[in-house]
Amino acid sequence: MRPSVSFSVTYVLCLCLGLLCLLSVSCWSSWWRGGFSRDGSALQFNWHPVLMASGLVVLCGHAVLVYRVPLTWKQKKHTWKLLHAGLMLLALLVSVLGHIPDLYSLHSWVGICTVLMFTVQLVLGLAGFLLPCSPLWLRSTLKPVHVWMGKAILILSLTSCVSGINEKLFFALNGSSGEPYNSLPAEFANSLCVLIVAFGSVVFGVLSRSKWQRPETDGESDHLLSEIGT
Ligand code: HEM
Repeated sequence: MRPSVSFSVTYVLCLCLGLLCLLSVSCWSSWWRGGFSRDGSALQFNWHPVLMASGLVVLCGHAVLVYRVPLTWKQKKHTWKLLHAGLMLLALLVSVLGHIPDLYSLHSWVGICTVLMFTVQLVLGLAGFLLPCSPLWLRSTLKPVHVWMGKAILILSLTSCVSGINEKLFFALNGSSGEPYNSLPAEFANSLCVLIVAFGSVVFGVLSRSKWQRPETDGESDHLLSEIGT
């Protein structure tokens, strides 16, 4: 099935915004925040925004769109389930690598909830949709919950990243000079947050269009798939 022009334009926009998010967060960490290290010094922190934005926002955002690409609709859904699950697993691994365990700020609470929900969703998704022995009633009960929780996770991921960037700005700018925050130079980080929010909005735009949903009528629905053992 050929994608419509409006879908293609939106999908390319999503790819470009995702790439811009990755470039911007890397530039912010290396040029504005002093670069990266792995020696336990303060610069080690700079991996955190890069890994969290890459895993929780960009990878997760692209992983939720896998089923929406019309070129995949004539192929077996199972293949795309594997890609969806694989990208999510990679997203979780990247964000666990970048995770900093502390619980004192609102940002850290939101971040921990996001990673915990992500882990629960991944385990339930793997068990419910990929295990051949998972019963039909479980798949059909799980699907709406899974889609709802997936969207909630994406919102939490965006909130974690934006609140983390804001928190870092407050710590770094207020700490480096005694001047009040509003008299300090605006950082590149504001634009980075705008890009992250723009990326998330486009992903939600795609998810909200029922016209762009994978059709269930061609023998590829979850029910039929499990009946024929795929
Ligand atoms: C933490 C990781 C995950 C998140 C955040 C997530 C999120 C989502 C979202 C938002 C959707 C809706 C997509 C749409 O409307 O087109 C979805 C659909 C789906 N996901 Fe996941 N997912 C995750 C992991 C998994 C895993 C591990 C599997 C196992 C195969 C899986 C299987 C599915 C299936 C079967 C659908 C329904 C597709 C359809 O028929 O429309 N997901 N997921």
